[in-house]
Amino acid sequence: MVSEISLGSWLTYGGGVGRERAEACVAKAFEVGIDFIDTANVYSRGQAEEFLGEVLADRPRDSYVLATKLFWPMPDGGRDLSREQVFTQLDASLGRLRTDYVDLYQCHRYDWNTPLEETMTALTEVVRQGKVRYLGFSEWPEEKIREAQAMAGVEHFVSSQPQYSMIWRGPERDVIPASRELGISQIVWSPLAQGVLTGKYKPGEPLPDGTRATSDAMGGFMERALDERLLERVQQLRLVADELGLSMAQLALAWVLREENVASAIIGASRPEQVSDNAAASGVELGAATLERIDEILGDSVSWEGPAS
Ligand SMILES: NC(=O)c1ccc[n+]([C@@H]2O[C@H](COP(=O)([O-])OP(=O)(O)OC[C@H]3O[C@@H](n4cnc5c(N)ncnc54)[C@H](OP(=O)(O)O)[C@@H]3O)[C@@H](O)[C@H]2O)c1
Repeated sequence: MVSEISLGSWLTYGGGVGRERAEACVAKAFEVGIDFIDTANVYSRGQAEEFLGEVLADRPRDSYVLATKLFWPMPDGGRDLSREQVFTQLDASLGRLRTDYVDLYQCHRYDWNTPLEETMTALTEVVRQGKVRYLGFSEWPEEKIREAQAMAGVEHFVSSQPQYSMIWRGPERDVIPASRELGISQIVWSPLAQGVLTGKYKPGEPLPDGTRATSDAMGGFMERALDERLLERVQQLRLVADELGLSMAQLALAWVLREENVASAIIGASRPEQVSDNAAASGVELGAATLERIDEILGDSVSWEGPAS
């Protein structure tokens, strides 16, 4: 069980957002009832985990659910999902996070260089040692998800972490239907399309200062922010949000949470006000007419790409 809105740390904490503001975001998250925090060994090359280890140190360990990941190359040269890497990267993460266990350990992508059985056996060992409570994956292809869940004698996955938002719906094609069948929930990333769905990037206008799109440290993955057609359509969503008395961020988050297989939307935040704005999306229900209107407005700006692995 996790809060419907969770706090992520890609690009932001230990990275592009200053220490004081980052701390204020984490404090605000606890204040508004967020109890689920997502990170990865690779975020800011270990510094996101370092930061979280420091700021979480004074909080009771059972007051939050902590998720991290392995797979992408680390500064020590380690990468992928071999038995040796599962043991090495997990111990390094636990050290940075200053804890004896993580609640959720996720394979950040599928590893085509390691036999799946080797990965699952190593993950099973770390669960049985008590260093990990549950297992998850991010952006795995459907056939590998099925293979892992069918494997005998190993621990199985409880969560899938795909990119999912109003404009990024690929998981609806295969990962979500397979997950429903296999007892897996989604915890989805970039539910606000990195801020694009908040409506702050306006068509025909310069990118606003102080946003991810203008940040040297954080703006490298935002090509969609510059898609004028999408930005025009997103502005039309403002009318829908206004009619419902919601902020645009809340509309976008309520949209992903309408899918029953989504357990939590992992938001990023550069300011504590964003954390409170976003947390208020929990519990908002969108009617069928609203969902249809959103589809009409977004039209072919919706992407249906498959998993990134
Ligand atoms: N598994 C994976 O491969 C993967 C990949 C990416 C992310 N993730 C996870 O998903 C988490 C979320 O990703 P994300 O940061 O891209 O999520 P996002 O929630 O779509 O975007 C977050 C950014 O949008 C802006 N924002 C957030 N709330 C806002 C609001 N209410 N009003 C205006 N602007 C707002 C902020 O940027 P500015 O204020 O700087 O503009 C914030 O940093 C990550 O931290 C990570 O844990 C996982």
